[in-house]
Amino acid sequence: MQTNNRRQLVAGNWKMNGDKTLVKQMQQSLAEASLDNMDVVICPPFPYLELFANTVKLGSQNISQFDSGAHTGEVSVAMLKEFNCHYVIVGHSERRADNNESDAVVALKVEQGLKANLTPILCVGEPEDVRENGTLFDYIAAQLDAVLQQVGIQQFAKMVLAYEPIWAIGTGKTASPTQAQEVHAFIRGYLAKQDTNIAANIVILYGGSVKGSNAQELFSQADVDGGLIGGASLNPEDFLSICQAANQ
Ligand code: PGA
Repeated sequence: MQTNNRRQLVAGNWKMNGDKTLVKQMQQSLAEASLDNMDVVICPPFPYLELFANTVKLGSQNISQFDSGAHTGEVSVAMLKEFNCHYVIVGHSERRADNNESDAVVALKVEQGLKANLTPILCVGEPEDVRENGTLFDYIAAQLDAVLQQVGIQQFAKMVLAYEPIWAIGTGKTASPTQAQEVHAFIRGYLAKQDTNIAANIVILYGGSVKGSNAQELFSQADVDGGLIGGASLNPEDFLSICQAANQ
């Protein structure tokens, strides 16, 4: 097996949740924790980014694919840079569903994030019927292909991937460690067809009902490099226990 420099990463995706009190509680919990062997990122709603300034690594939950201009309600990469964002979640299934973000739009957003030196956390993952009808790997490959065609394999060296089966998001129905590992290995193998070094080193997170009680087993799978955490990232104690599972 090829050697790699992967470090575990846990990113908290608050979605449209949280308030100023939670910002303070999370800052305090993270400041007291010693998590030297992994990276933590918080992706709060836009208004809370500045409150987190200089206390945690920040990510946004979305970006515009445009630089600036008449795009009401959108936030540009330049603005996010001013607020010290380092990461951006792109292609989350909720944005694909709620905002009709196609694979092509997702690819443009990845490109836009990279252009600004933000690290895209590109989410891929299948709905339940796709898993059941046996076309899971084709589905994931198509999601990856859209971005590969837009930015090229070399850019994947500056990205993080997240495998988030849609049926496991917010449902309490976690993918088993074996199911997660199977898809993570597929993704890594798929990228390896184009560049073995990039494939070996890209961080691939698992997302979908990760909790303190299942994090360790998921994160110990060979190709699982941490998690993208929704619900459990809203409780500092639960979130910390997930981070500790990655801090081995
Ligand atoms: P969940 O969400 O942890 O609440 O399932 C994960 C995500 O949507 O990123």
